Order: sequence, then C-alpha cells, then structure tokens
Amino acid sequence: MNALNRSSQGAAVQAHIRALPLYVPGRSEQSVAREYGLSRVIKLASNENPLGCSPEVGKALAEHLAHGQTALARYPDSEASELRHALSRHHGVPPECIAMTNGSHELIDLCAALTLHDGNEGVYSQYAFQAYPISIRARGAAAIQVAARDFRHDPDAICRAMTKSTRLVYLCNPNNPTGTVLRPEDIERILGAAGPHTLVVLDEAYIDYLDPALRPDSIGLVARYPQLVIARTFSKAYGLASLRVGYGIMQPEIVDAIARVRPTFSVNALAQRAALAALADQAFLQGTQALNRAGIAQITRSLQRHRIEWIPTHANFIAIRLNDAAAVAERLLQAGVVVRPLSAYELHDFIRVTIGTEEENELFLRALLQAVEPA
Ligand SMILES: Cc1ncc(COP(=O)(O)O)c(C=O)c1O
Repeated sequence: MNALNRSSQGAAVQAHIRALPLYVPGRSEQSVAREYGLSRVIKLASNENPLGCSPEVGKALAEHLAHGQTALARYPDSEASELRHALSRHHGVPPECIAMTNGSHELIDLCAALTLHDGNEGVYSQYAFQAYPISIRARGAAAIQVAARDFRHDPDAICRAMTKSTRLVYLCNPNNPTGTVLRPEDIERILGAAGPHTLVVLDEAYIDYLDPALRPDSIGLVARYPQLVIARTFSKAYGLASLRVGYGIMQPEIVDAIARVRPTFSVNALAQRAALAALADQAFLQGTQALNRAGIAQITRSLQRHRIEWIPTHANFIAIRLNDAAAVAERLLQAGVVVRPLSAYELHDFIRVTIGTEEENELFLRALLQAVEPA
C-alpha cells in the first residue's frame, strides 16, 4: 500500500482513542522460541491452564465437525441457548439472567458501552486489570483510579470515589495482577454505596481458584442489587482461552441491553460446544484447582527459602517482588520462561508468574534463581 498524505492518516480516529494505551498480551511461545532460538519455551505469562482443557472438549469438537460441511458453514446460535441453559442449571439462575460474550473481556467492555460517555465517570482500583481504564476511556468518560491499599482494592476509598457522575465501577476478585481478594462484606458495602444509576461489574475471571470459604455469594447478590453484573469466563480454570467464551450473570434488563450492543454472533459454534463439554467435566476443574494449590505451595516454599518477597495469592498466578524485575523477566525469556513484568501496572519491581505444572514451576524457579543472581 502506498503511503498517502501522512498528515491525514488516522484523522478520522477520535483524539481520545489515539491517546489510549495499547493492551499488550503475554508473548506466545512461538515468537519467543523464534527470537531466542530456543527448542522449548514455557509460557507462564497469561494465566492459562497448564493442564489445557478437559479431554471431553476435544471429543465434543470432533463430533461437531463430523456433521460435515454444514458444521462450519452455518452461523452459530446467537443466543447460545444450550450453553445458557446449562449455565442456568449450573448456577441456579434463570437463563434470562445470563449474557454470553466473546470472552469476559467483551462483557467488561460492553458494560462501558452501556453506561459511559463523555462527561461521566468509571471507577476502578489501582493495580487492577489493565482493560478497565481502556474501556472507560474509549467511551470518552473519565477513568477514576482509586489508590490500592497493600496492593488490594480499598473499599472505603472506592466508596468515597463514587460521585453523582459515576456510572460504572469495576471490581476484580481475585484481582489480576496481584492475586488479592475482596471480602464479601466489602463487596456489599460498595454495592450499597453505589446508586441505582451505577453499574457495578464484579469481574470473577479467577473465582474458581479462590478457596470456597472466601468466596462471596456473588450470584445471590444479583437479586438484591439490580445494578450488579458478575463477569465469568471459560478462559482460565476451564482452559478454553483460545475459543473466547465468557458470560455474565445479571438482571434480565441488563442482559437485554447487552444484546443490543453486542456483535450478533460473538460466541462461535465450536466455542459453544467446547464450553458445554468443559462445564460438564467438573472433575477436570477440581484437578485444576488441586494442581494450582500444590503449585502455589511449591513456588512460595522456594521463594521463602531464598528470601524473595511475593504477594499472597488467591488466583492461578503470583506477583513476585524483585530488584530489577524487567531485567529478570528478560533473562527468564532468554532461558525460555515467559513471565509478565508488571511495569505496565506501575509495579516496577514485580513480575507476575502463572502457576504451571510441577515441572514447569521447577524450571521457572531454577531459571529465576539464576536470573536473580546472574553468573
Ligand atoms: C481479571 C481478568 N478479567 C477478564 C479477563 C478476560 O479474559 P477472557 O476475555 O479470556 O474471558 C482477564 C484475562 O486475562 C483477566 O485477567
């Protein structure tokens, strides 16, 4: 393509969109292997499931594709009815209270589309998922960042930050990238302080990793707080990140509003089949949870032994404090271990590492110790 008049390139794009930071996802194994000439790369950068997904998923997809040429030629069920009904039974909520989206990121973003415009505000915590301020600012609204306390959401400060212009609040529990948890009573306090015109999105992408004793009855709260949206995903503990299936639990009026702004076929047919099979295999989920608990114990034992600090985690990743985190992350890359430096979160002395299999954790720890003390 020839370069046109440069001064006019991108002129149609609104200035506040051009000013948005780019969300940078974790690097793929393939690109790291190519760049560093490595035969094996361990990716612990995107909080994916190290076990993959349930073996039932492969069977369900093969069965779907066996339907011949029409399997891929037909548009998917735009309402994902079978999956929505399965989720309805799983969670004990009416199917009308469930919205299906292309990963939970789409739901998070669409909630901003429902509520925000130039002149109002969205609130989120410091050190919370990077996507929140991007979705807020993309609508021209003001992104109000609330200072965290000890790397956690500060519920009092969040309540104080809400004004009559606040239309959206994002909460992340457990929080990415710190792994911290919000107490159920703090969630309720924030919901109580939010007015009826403020949508509260409770992002529970990592809820399956949280000890059941610490989990809020978030779904029960939807009946009492009609402005609450619970965001869930099949990307993490169910291991379907590449297929993009997320969903929300909320009042039917909000489901209806989501349906009006969501691209029509945002959850494809293979993704729907895969999620159905994954949901049915709760034994796989339990195996994932057990592996994660063992992995956290394995990693924190070693960090403790080497006097390396970390933030206690309730998710499938751990934020580790290091003197020169960016340089350590780069040395780990060269050793074939991909982790996430947290400078984009202004946590300049931290890396975030996804909990892997026992072997992956061991290889990470060995590489970390070498990277921290290079020869
Ligand atoms: C806190 C949090 N919420 C939501 C998402 C979006 O996940 P997905 O769109 O794959 O469901 C992520 C992904 O990393 C996340 O960390």
